[in-house]
Amino acid sequence: MRSPSSFFGVLFILALISGVHAGYDFFYFVLQWPGSYCDTSSGCCYPTYGKPPSNFGIHGLWPNYNNGSYPANCDPNNPFDVNKIQDLVSSLRTNWPSLACPSSDSTSFWQHEWDKHGTCSESVMDEHGYFQDALNLKSRINLLQYLQSAGISPNNAFYSLTNIKSAIKTGTGHTPWIECNKDASGNYQLYQVYICIDHAGTTLIDCPVFPTGACGSSIKFPTF
Ligand SMILES: *[C@@H]1O[C@H](CO)[C@@H](O)[C@H](O)[C@H]1NC(C)=O
Repeated sequence: MRSPSSFFGVLFILALISGVHAGYDFFYFVLQWPGSYCDTSSGCCYPTYGKPPSNFGIHGLWPNYNNGSYPANCDPNNPFDVNKIQDLVSSLRTNWPSLACPSSDSTSFWQHEWDKHGTCSESVMDEHGYFQDALNLKSRINLLQYLQSAGISPNNAFYSLTNIKSAIKTGTGHTPWIECNKDASGNYQLYQVYICIDHAGTTLIDCPVFPTGACGSSIKFPTF
């Protein structure tokens, strides 16, 4: 007679063979335009080590499910430890700066991102691998160059959302999601760009699902 445990054992092996992996399906790699963070009514604070470059910065690398929801805070037993990423700190300060107030050295931003999002990818990458992966993606994806090649520059002018998306698609090969926020006068502007990355964190893919949110058809690209 077949026992229940062997029945579940077979199911488990079938799940492994069919490629089911625990945790998440793909990543959103989210880049942020600092000018749009700073010109809102609440403003921003530069890091203690100085004004970040006039370029997109990393917000995070976020595991997501194909159904649109996402896992969070997956492993409280593996909290952020800055000692594990000492060799990356100087690059993180430039490429992953915090603009939150009060001014900080950005460490608490990286800590939040690892604890909330990074721990959900630890079956694939450890803490050092997670931050290294995000930096590698950032150096491969030059959003500002893609936009400027299409005549779209951070000069406080308004640009068509369709043209912004198609300029980024020309650069990356895939349609991005654009998240808008509002400046102090209430104008929609280019705030964050979502690029979809496969489960391994290496290959750009078409987004299985897009986030939602309001944005104008013509949006501001503020200076920084
Ligand atoms: C989305 O998919 C995940 C993983 O399969 C599941 O745990 C979660 O409950 C689903 N959420 C919704 C809203 O369907």
